[in-house]
Amino acid sequence: MASGVLNSPGLAGVGVADLQRYVGLKHSSGVALCFPRNAKASRLRRGLIVSIAGDKQNESIKKLGLSDAECEAAVVAGNAPEAPPVPPKPAAPVGTPVVSSLPLSRRPRRNRRSPALRAAFQETSLSPANFVYPLFIHEGEEDTPIGAMPGCYRLGWRHGLVEEVAKARDVGVNSIVLFPKVPDGLKSPTGDEAYNDNGLVPRTIRLLKDRYPDLVIYTDVALDPYSSDGHDGIVREDGVIMNDETVHQLCKQAVSQARAGADVVSPSDMMDGRVGAIRAALDAEGFQHVSIMSYTAKYASSFYGPFREALDSNPRFGDKKTYQMNPANYREALVETREDEAEGADILLVKPGLPYLDIIRLLRDNSPLPIAAYQVSGEYSMIKAGGVLKMIDEERVMMESLMCLRRGGADIILTYFALQAARVLCGEKSKLRTRLLLND
Ligand code: PBG
Repeated sequence: MASGVLNSPGLAGVGVADLQRYVGLKHSSGVALCFPRNAKASRLRRGLIVSIAGDKQNESIKKLGLSDAECEAAVVAGNAPEAPPVPPKPAAPVGTPVVSSLPLSRRPRRNRRSPALRAAFQETSLSPANFVYPLFIHEGEEDTPIGAMPGCYRLGWRHGLVEEVAKARDVGVNSIVLFPKVPDGLKSPTGDEAYNDNGLVPRTIRLLKDRYPDLVIYTDVALDPYSSDGHDGIVREDGVIMNDETVHQLCKQAVSQARAGADVVSPSDMMDGRVGAIRAALDAEGFQHVSIMSYTAKYASSFYGPFREALDSNPRFGDKKTYQMNPANYREALVETREDEAEGADILLVKPGLPYLDIIRLLRDNSPLPIAAYQVSGEYSMIKAGGVLKMIDEERVMMESLMCLRRGGADIILTYFALQAARVLCGEKSKLRTRLLLND
């Protein structure tokens, strides 16, 4: 027997026939809707109970009940059956001021007064399907903890990584993005290791695709993990990051990743014109089906600190301000959006996430393309640190921050919390899940 509690006081006076309209059930041979006649008042106060009963119960109803005509006749004759009284008004604490009620035509709290109402009117949802899990990989066999990112590791590409992907898939996270820690000996000023078909990233993609053909693999397109200068592009003698020459390298990198089986290549370098160039390069090699997620609005942010420690990719000198955007700028994100759209980007990304919610909203309102938000390493580490120090409730702040990114307009979220948050959503901690789902 399936049953459910309808919690709406508005339904309290609704009869069987009306109720069918509300719950969308029809009378048919084996299905009956009934109100338990002898339910306790406390139960009834919580709401009606709708049951879909089997034949057995159907028969017992027939035996028990008066006919509809008899019931109606009794009511018409003034003999309405008993129902529990409306409960008395709950008392306010002694000392509560007695005031006349405010003349409000709108009291928004009405729609928030119970978990069920809050759940009904919740505007934004969060699902493991929205997450992309960034994973750090290295050549080693062991997993090496990343000091500045508690809970994150440089994963051995053949062991730890494969296990981590399996765990993520178990809770519905089927998209990952790979970030390699490249041995210093392979770094160079022109970052040529970036397009070595047998380099760490292409090798790892092939391994993962072999194990999990339906895994969605995003890759990072930028030279910094491969650059002896730690910059996303080629650095000229005078410190200038060379744009078009870098784009040439990025195209080779993207094609090499696509050849290995990448589903989505993601230029994070912020060179001008790289999306169009990469699109053309992919198409020329027969990779029309490979998507481009462009880091459209990537800011020169201090929130990337822990990431650079993770990959040992701090710029050797200077900063990234001549290519990444000025955190003070808003309209400029629209310039980047127009270019990326015109050049054929499939997904537009904003980075960092939470401090840049206005930019996420700007892109959402100005482009029909899917929007990605990157909750970056610094955002992750702040929440972890606050949790470890018991200054905040890590799990709740984690879930709230992700929900806020969705509310801000992000379709997908790149987050180091992907596995942890998906576990919460999948009910491994079912109490919290209920509270979150019901906003209780
Ligand atoms: C580099 C890259 C960076 C991140 C992703 N890709 C760092 C940077 O631009 O210096 C940062 C991600 C994070 O902080 O979590 N192409």
